[in-house]
Amino acid sequence: MNVLIVGAAGAIGAALLKRYLESPAVEQIIAIHHQPKGSSDSNLRWLDCDLRDERSIIRCAETVAAMGVPIHRWVCASGYLQGPLGGPEKSMRNIRGAKLHDDFAVNTIGPVLLFSAMASQLKVAPGLKAAFLSAQVGSIEDNQLGGWFGYRMSKAALNMGIRCLAIEAGRWRNEPTIVAIHPGTTVSNLSKDFVKQRKLPLQSAEHCAEKLDYLIEGLAVKGTGKFYRLDGSLLPW
Ligand SMILES: NC(=O)c1ccc[n+]([C@@H]2O[C@H](COP(=O)([O-])OP(=O)(O)OC[C@H]3O[C@@H](n4cnc5c(N)ncnc54)[C@H](OP(=O)(O)O)[C@@H]3O)[C@@H](O)[C@H]2O)c1
Repeated sequence: MNVLIVGAAGAIGAALLKRYLESPAVEQIIAIHHQPKGSSDSNLRWLDCDLRDERSIIRCAETVAAMGVPIHRWVCASGYLQGPLGGPEKSMRNIRGAKLHDDFAVNTIGPVLLFSAMASQLKVAPGLKAAFLSAQVGSIEDNQLGGWFGYRMSKAALNMGIRCLAIEAGRWRNEPTIVAIHPGTTVSNLSKDFVKQRKLPLQSAEHCAEKLDYLIEGLAVKGTGKFYRLDGSLLPW
């Protein structure tokens, strides 16, 4: 089995990469990040890709195509919550266009564009399972609190992109399973400034990766186009 991980140097992405590296079922891993974070070897190839940059995305997809490796697992573990343009908006007063553009570039446009740029190659392998890490706060129905406009809106739009990808790819000869997954609150760079008040112990990235791995392996085609919690239960869109 060959695996591709986007955001492979993030907390959850790196923990998943470690699991796949240790798995006897995995032959080849393609690890994608802004800047490759490790050295490539015979079964691990790091590729750089900036999800804000369409040319970088196309170049990355072309490099993967040139490798000619059928891909059986495609996991997008990249994501963006705060950066130089600011953090999550507490109120509509804080909304800024540039920050919304940035949220959408990394959380929505980049992942969907990368998947579509790789589509001709992804069609080849039977049994493709593609998981995009989304977030429960991107569920429109679940939103009772408001705030966090950019992150919520960009993840809700990602969810729509995933649903569209799943419907269209459902017509491929090798029908894949394409899903959105909420990984649960997990210790990471992305979450660290927003979990200080939490009383419950946080899930480690390793624990998250273990559950994610089980969830992905247990997915079946009839579950395509859905939004899952890590325990396999469904979230409303
Ligand atoms: N942790 C949680 O509690 C939680 C909860 C719900 C959903 N999620 C979702 O789970 C996923 C993984 O998050 P995480 O907690 O593991 O966060 P993380 O450690 O910050 O990992 C996210 C990764 O995305 C990368 N990334 C950001 N911008 C990028 C770009 N323009 N091009 C390429 N890569 C880029 C980051 O790279 P740099 O750090 O180098 O910028 C980072 O390695 C995300 O989609 C997140 O929204 C996490």
